[in-house]
Amino acid sequence: MTPAVPRRGLRDLEPYQAPQLEVAARLNTNECPYPLPESFRGELGDAVRALELHRYPDREAQELREALAKHAGHPVEGTWAANGSNEVIEQLLLAYGGPGRRVVVFQPTYVLHERLAWVTHGDLFPLSLDEPWSISTHDAARALAAQPAVVFVCSPNNPTGNAQPVEVVEELAAGGDSLVVVDEAYIEFGGRSAAGLVAGYPNVAVVRTFSKAFALAGARIGYCLASPEVVDDLRRVRLPYHLSALTQAAGLIALRHKEDALAILDAVRQERDRILGELPALEVRAFPSDANFVLFRPPKPAREVWRGLLDRGVLVRDMTSVVPDCLRVTAGTPEEVGRFLSALKEVLA
Ligand SMILES: Cc1ncc(COP(=O)(O)O)c(C=O)c1O
Repeated sequence: MTPAVPRRGLRDLEPYQAPQLEVAARLNTNECPYPLPESFRGELGDAVRALELHRYPDREAQELREALAKHAGHPVEGTWAANGSNEVIEQLLLAYGGPGRRVVVFQPTYVLHERLAWVTHGDLFPLSLDEPWSISTHDAARALAAQPAVVFVCSPNNPTGNAQPVEVVEELAAGGDSLVVVDEAYIEFGGRSAAGLVAGYPNVAVVRTFSKAFALAGARIGYCLASPEVVDDLRRVRLPYHLSALTQAAGLIALRHKEDALAILDAVRQERDRILGELPALEVRAFPSDANFVLFRPPKPAREVWRGLLDRGVLVRDMTSVVPDCLRVTAGTPEEVGRFLSALKEVLA
């Protein structure tokens, strides 16, 4: 028996993993800490019961895309939906990346961008940013000089938390024919959206998700606001019937309940600002955030602090491989954040 030989380098790649542990405060994956209300669940249950699951779903997800377009104030022909923003990003790379085509990422940033660039056989071209990790005109020029096929901008950026200037996105879009992908997974929490650029720059694609502000990480819904040409290209690479009828139903109902989801934003921002306000007193360096999480550098070895927090029932994200000596905590409920702060005090004492 001979084992199959995978593509070169595959076995060097660790499967994506953020620990999924049953602890009192799960603050490591930037989810919304509050579930959607009972009325949402009721409507979803009714909608699921009425689905004809022996039939394929609407391949074009037309109703959902129309509702998304209305929500975003964007033409429906330029609006796309998929299974989480990760799938949208993968589809964009399938269409615009690939062998011999450069994919620029500004590091430190969301690690899935470079991982998916590799998975889709693109040529990764990383550019590093210095603290406070804002992309400058000079950085944009460095990116354009590489003549990339795709440039990623994450705004607000994960894991650093800062939003990037829309002016720089415009410079990137105006400076060449690369596809500029703006990952706005956290835009509802802060920062200026680049979606307004799409009308003038058909090479801009804004990617968003229902996993954070919409409190629907479990449903896997992401969407893209782009030009009709980009959406047509996504249609060419997507799998047939990629978005299940269940997902489409959940997305539609979530949009009907968007006031419920958006009402939670202020509470989450308050907890983020509470974390930012309290960490300096513990001699912890906390970086300003426009998102629903905070990157911080403790005065003790970060791995040790991560472990100490976990021992006290608080799971945060170890970011040391992305930003040296740093951890990231999601803004949870007041109780979860209280638990995080007292556990951190104990660990640092
Ligand atoms: C910047 C960024 N983009 C995209 C995603 C993925 O979101 P989704 O759940 O929509 O795939 C995340 C998830 O943490 C993220 O941080």
